[in-house]
Amino acid sequence: MKALITGASCGIGREIARELARRGCDLILCSRNEAALKAVADEVAGTVSCEIVPMDLSTREGVKNLYQQTKNRGVNILVNNAGFGVFGPFVETDLEAELDLIDLNISALHALTKYFLLDFKNQRERCHILNVSSMAGFFAGPLFATYYASKNYVTRLTEALAVELKHSKSNISVSLLCPGPVHTNFGLRAGVGYGGAGTPIDVVAREAVDGMFAGKLHIVPGRLYKFLKFANAFLPTMIAAEIVGKLQGSKNLAHRYQKK
Ligand SMILES: NC(=O)c1ccc[n+]([C@@H]2O[C@H](COP(=O)([O-])OP(=O)(O)OC[C@H]3O[C@@H](n4cnc5c(N)ncnc54)[C@H](OP(=O)(O)O)[C@@H]3O)[C@@H](O)[C@H]2O)c1
Repeated sequence: MKALITGASCGIGREIARELARRGCDLILCSRNEAALKAVADEVAGTVSCEIVPMDLSTREGVKNLYQQTKNRGVNILVNNAGFGVFGPFVETDLEAELDLIDLNISALHALTKYFLLDFKNQRERCHILNVSSMAGFFAGPLFATYYASKNYVTRLTEALAVELKHSKSNISVSLLCPGPVHTNFGLRAGVGYGGAGTPIDVVAREAVDGMFAGKLHIVPGRLYKFLKFANAFLPTMIAAEIVGKLQGSKNLAHRYQKK
């Protein structure tokens, strides 16, 4: 099999790339940082074939170019992982940064899902789309409003698509990866820190890949977050939003993430 992974230069995307390589999948890796992508490609070289496509996916041209360069290349797994967050009260956060967030977290994921879905429909073998959402995709997120809203979009789009595909007896599985906090460069870019250990990144990647191949819709790594997703079903939306706002408020802007 061959996987196209966005946001594969570091963090969760890189770990999913490593996990898929361990399972013998060829890779096409995309993000903006060519040197970092090359380092990942060098790491997996010898195990599987790996190409890199440096691209800014917060522009429509970037997304179209990525598709043009990768269609007809035997891709049968799409991992829509690239994304980032903007932290702070909505009245204070930078509009340009938020519009970039919407372009990357929503528009790029939406377009790539559509492009590859249409291609996958014509393939005989089973194909997989793994959309990286977050626990944030189940809640409203005071102090992280645009990010949480973007992940709600990813969650609802993918859930709707899953029902459509089920009824059309499709050969395509769609899955949602919904982690809680994971120590990556995410906090650095968003300007947040948190005290907890987070879910180990190798656990996130392993559960993501297992769940995707099993055709599971909601993949929630870690017992605590599985419980929180369950408990959320019984909580009124605005009470949950108050709790999330309190948790986000405890995050320290002068965070202690180190660039990885
Ligand atoms: N870390 C968490 O706590 C957490 C929890 C739940 C969900 N998530 C989700 O997991 C996904 C990966 O995040 P992460 O935690 O691994 O963060 P990360 O370490 O910051 O990785 C983000 C990836 O996205 C790429 N990217 C950013 N802007 C891009 C752009 N304009 N065009 C193309 N690629 C771009 C980055 O590469 P370049 O800089 O090279 O472009 C990088 O490879 C995101 O969707 C995030 O929302 C994270």
